[in-house]
Amino acid sequence: MKRKPIFAANWKMNKGASETEDFVKSLLSKLQGKDIPADIVISPPFISLPKLADLLHNANAGQNAHAIQIAAQNCSQHDSGAFTGEVSVMMLREFYVHYVILGHSERRSIFGETDEVINAKMKKALETNLKPIFCIGETLEEREAGKLESVLRTQVTEGLKGLSNSDMSETVIAYEPVWAIGTGVTASSDQAQEAHAFVRSLIEELYGSEIASKVRIQYGGSVKPGNAAELMACPDIDGALIGGASLEPQSFLEVIQNGSEG
Ligand code: PGA
Repeated sequence: MKRKPIFAANWKMNKGASETEDFVKSLLSKLQGKDIPADIVISPPFISLPKLADLLHNANAGQNAHAIQIAAQNCSQHDSGAFTGEVSVMMLREFYVHYVILGHSERRSIFGETDEVINAKMKKALETNLKPIFCIGETLEEREAGKLESVLRTQVTEGLKGLSNSDMSETVIAYEPVWAIGTGVTASSDQAQEAHAFVRSLIEELYGSEIASKVRIQYGGSVKPGNAAELMACPDIDGALIGGASLEPQSFLEVIQNGSEG
């Protein structure tokens, strides 16, 4: 089963509107004339979404611009109302947002998001045709205690609870070992492949083999131009969620190019 890889830049709390503009102009010029066999996604802070949407969707943006899709870094599980500081899925839709990152380890550990909250957000996103990039992954402590599979099993079964087959077909999974995020330490390709194959087997248990063979599972955690090719060569790795190395257009492009060559 050949799956189209998906490379998503997770900028986290970096780049306001003017830096977003500089980045996108530079990336678009670098993409000129290149035919990249992968989906490319940028996920800026909320405040930069209008600028990004404008840059990618105005009439003069050119054909490369349309190859880049937009993700939000979070969304509310509620439609509207008294939720100070929150952003709804309908608000995101106004800015051509296609994807939303949910369950990122920073949301889980710093902002206390539980599997239940993440599940509610997944459902809300899918209701409005936003495709979740559903993040899972174990801490070093959990891995060393031999709990890798049980942690992933819980995150997958609780996070995806109640999702239909068609919901699952719209969902991208990102396996991100917490110990590899922002640390410069990457999972070896063997470690990553093993976890990805296990996650795919969980999807097969829950949704059957056809959906499992189609679901795209990104790897995330210190992906760089130098390690992208080896990681992406693994049979169950279908792209990457990239933090640090996505902040410069050149290194983001090199990750995409090196990772989609194979
Ligand atoms: P990193 O972040 O590439 O800086 O490790 C990845 C992520 O958190 O999605």
